[in-house]
Amino acid sequence: MVMTREPAEERNLALDAVRVTESAAIASARWMGLGDLHGASDSATRAMRAAFDSLEIAGNVVIGEGEQEEAPLLYVGEKVGRWQGDDPRIDVAVDPLEGVRMCALGQPNALSVLAMTRRGHFLKAPDMYMDKIAVGPAGKGAVDITQSATWNLHAVADAKGVYVQDLTVCVLDRPRHEGLIREIREAGARIKLIPDGDVAAAIATCREEESGIDLLMGTGGAPEGVMAAAALRCVGGDMVGRLRPRSQDEMERAVRAGIDSPGDYLKLDDLVSGEILFAATGITDGDLLKGVRFRRGGAVTQSCVMRSKTRTLRLVEAHHRFDQRPNFGEL
Ligand code: FBP
Repeated sequence: MVMTREPAEERNLALDAVRVTESAAIASARWMGLGDLHGASDSATRAMRAAFDSLEIAGNVVIGEGEQEEAPLLYVGEKVGRWQGDDPRIDVAVDPLEGVRMCALGQPNALSVLAMTRRGHFLKAPDMYMDKIAVGPAGKGAVDITQSATWNLHAVADAKGVYVQDLTVCVLDRPRHEGLIREIREAGARIKLIPDGDVAAAIATCREEESGIDLLMGTGGAPEGVMAAAALRCVGGDMVGRLRPRSQDEMERAVRAGIDSPGDYLKLDDLVSGEILFAATGITDGDLLKGVRFRRGGAVTQSCVMRSKTRTLRLVEAHHRFDQRPNFGEL
């Protein structure tokens, strides 16, 4: 962990960001294992939206729950925060419940996630697929989405000074990854198949001592790709990607979002640039963070907050008292 002196207002924003993800995590954790995907997702979104009201920012959602006609809250283009006086103009990327199924089924690695930066620094990735490779700081600069999985595994092994056989690659367990999984196995690397949640898996590559994960490879959500890139940028990891529009409509969505050539190779700086603040709170237990624990009269949450400016990563354990804030956690 890096110890730094930081402007007080930025430290406060970091703490405020954590309060936003904590609210969403507590609200959705009430739905853990109940099998209700919509209930879990809706409660997280409503709690996150409400928590934004007290944030001293003029925020604009650029990665959110969908376009305005699909999502009543936290839609792309929605204004969030206080919007008073000289509140800073901030672009906001949110995923109130990353891993809806994991929360609804009580599986690991569901997170509530938020990233913020000054205007114009996030790729406004619409809801479509993206090919992704994410790697921790030791593999920074070694990965290339235009090359094969085998090529990338050898490049990362060389950068880390290990054998390909020593690497563990996280891959979403999907039929579309059959060929990728075969290639990774043939190259000799080990695989951890995950049911959902490639944001947590991408971030886990930056904490490989704890997580045992060296790379994330495969195709997942494009908005999740930008969220993960924000986190990796904060802690010195790397991510490369390429959008995978599957229809003319998705092509047009990308172009409307300002992405002229949706098939282009995206490096970390294309996904996210500038100074980033990233916060995540565990909903269910995971590789990175513990999930929400309800206690008599309250709950305990574990979050991380990271800033690219200083590469600081803070782990925040919060003990919440519902009797002091009657609506907290009851949304
Ligand atoms: P949701 O929380 O939106 O359900 O996303 C979960 C997730 O597993 C992401 O982590 C991943 O990027 C995406 O879904 C993969 O999409 P699909 O389920 O269509 O393969």
